[in-house]
Amino acid sequence: MDNDELAFEMLNVTKKVPSGDSYMDVLKGVDLIGKKGKILIITGPSGCGKTTLLSVLAGTLHFDGGEVNIFEHSLQNLSDPELTEFRKKNVGFIFQQLHLIGTLNCQKNIAVPLLLNGYTLKEALQKSNEMLHLLGLKERKYMQPSRLSGGEQQKVAIGRALIHNPKLLICDEPTASLDAKSGSKIMEILRKITRSPERCVVVVTHDNRIMEYADCIATMEDGIIVDYQENF
Ligand SMILES: Nc1ncnc2c1ncn2[C@@H]1O[C@H](COP(=O)(O)OP(=O)(O)OP(=O)(O)O)[C@@H](O)[C@H]1O
Ligand SMILES: [Mg+2]
Repeated sequence: MDNDELAFEMLNVTKKVPSGDSYMDVLKGVDLIGKKGKILIITGPSGCGKTTLLSVLAGTLHFDGGEVNIFEHSLQNLSDPELTEFRKKNVGFIFQQLHLIGTLNCQKNIAVPLLLNGYTLKEALQKSNEMLHLLGLKERKYMQPSRLSGGEQQKVAIGRALIHNPKLLICDEPTASLDAKSGSKIMEILRKITRSPERCVVVVTHDNRIMEYADCIATMEDGIIVDYQENF
């Protein structure tokens, strides 16, 4: 990538998945860019390939053709162990189903990515405390996720996705199960963490209420990006 502003670029990315006896094209030549310090919102009808696109970008799903360049990494050139390493260091992922670990309290849930990156338990818990403070969840530290409200659980998921300071944060429908007020709060947090330190935040959503938080909006239909707008 030769443009300093760019966090990632997807060039003509294709992906087929098994469907009955043959294959179905889910990504049909995706071209998309994400910029540093910006929130990119991707929207589009159910089944058009948004989650598949996010999984490719996160390095959790192999793609068939095209290029995915993220910061200084070209995913098509990485081996599986290199891809795992890339993901651990550079990507935070907030899933639609939050996948918090029910048996761990909030402090430990948030600490998990640091443990995977080789921090000691003591260091990881210390950093988790700082994150809990930032998210306004200090009082919830020792509670298990099931005792928290939906918005609070969403914040724990954000904390876990950010704790290792990833340069790329990927969120699949982060406000889907929240009321308008909690949804706005989550987006305020995402906006803050996008600017400093500079990182790229990619949010897939159907939620029109949060479009105002976007710096760029990409519209997807049937496996391709059909519209891209910024500075609106
Ligand atoms: N591993 C898979 N095996 C078979 N089909 C798949 C697989 N992954 C995705 N698909 C199909 O690809 C299409 C796109 O799926 P995807 O989950 O990316 O859509 P989406 O845009 O995220 O939809 P939604 O808004 O409902 O979450 C769907 O028809 C889905 O059934
Ligand atoms: Mg989806």
